[in-house]
Amino acid sequence: MKKVLVKDYHHLSLTAFDLFLQEFQENPAGTFGFATGSTPIGFYQRIREDHALHQTDYSKIKTFNLDEYVGLDEQHPQSYHHFMSQQLFNPLGIGKEQVHLPKGNAEDLQQECERYESLLNAHPIDLQILGIGENGHIGFNEPGTSFESGVHVTTLKESTRQANSRFFDSIHQVPTHAITMGIQNILNAKKILVLVSGSSKAAIIKEIFQHPVTTQIPASALNHHSDTTFIIDEEAAMYLS
Ligand code: F6R
Repeated sequence: MKKVLVKDYHHLSLTAFDLFLQEFQENPAGTFGFATGSTPIGFYQRIREDHALHQTDYSKIKTFNLDEYVGLDEQHPQSYHHFMSQQLFNPLGIGKEQVHLPKGNAEDLQQECERYESLLNAHPIDLQILGIGENGHIGFNEPGTSFESGVHVTTLKESTRQANSRFFDSIHQVPTHAITMGIQNILNAKKILVLVSGSSKAAIIKEIFQHPVTTQIPASALNHHSDTTFIIDEEAAMYLS
């Protein structure tokens, strides 16, 4: 696992964009895995700014998202479908046929997991963007998830629902379940870029880099991946020696 240390969130977003653009320019018809959450927002803004300035053409890429809440329809303001449409897909003119997310409102969730798994197997991800949860989750793979897991329905930990309640009117509205790529799906990506910002991630980053690999820290599975780069700002890196 490589580490790129940057001063702050602004520089994290710029660095993530530079690495993403490098990959995109080498592979303009590539398959990109995207994450939601707060951390990639500055990075997505940089992609939009660059697109507005240079009309960067994303018409050939394919995209896959890590996860989606169970029970929210695509138009729900807190659904990850909605988030991605607002942040990237609409502004960049990325069409529906290029985009893949698990459907959290599917009638048969098991069948939906199988559909998403086969899509991922048919279209290996060239570059996967990740954030990490304060408990070390990647996607919605909570502590204890097998490193061999494929796409599955997961029960969100209370701490994750608490952390995500900032986007909802109250904790009661935060879904209890999500469909997520499994850890094995994530490890199948050719390259992985992990964005980590802020003091709330400092303790878990230390664990990931300085403790043995364990399913109790899902992000520690990235130690098994051959091309993972963490971009970490000073606050998140404060306990790293
Ligand atoms: C989002 C996702 C999550 C987030 C993680 C960090 O698609 O899968 O693993 O990356 O919860 O979220 P933020 O960036 O809001 O701290």
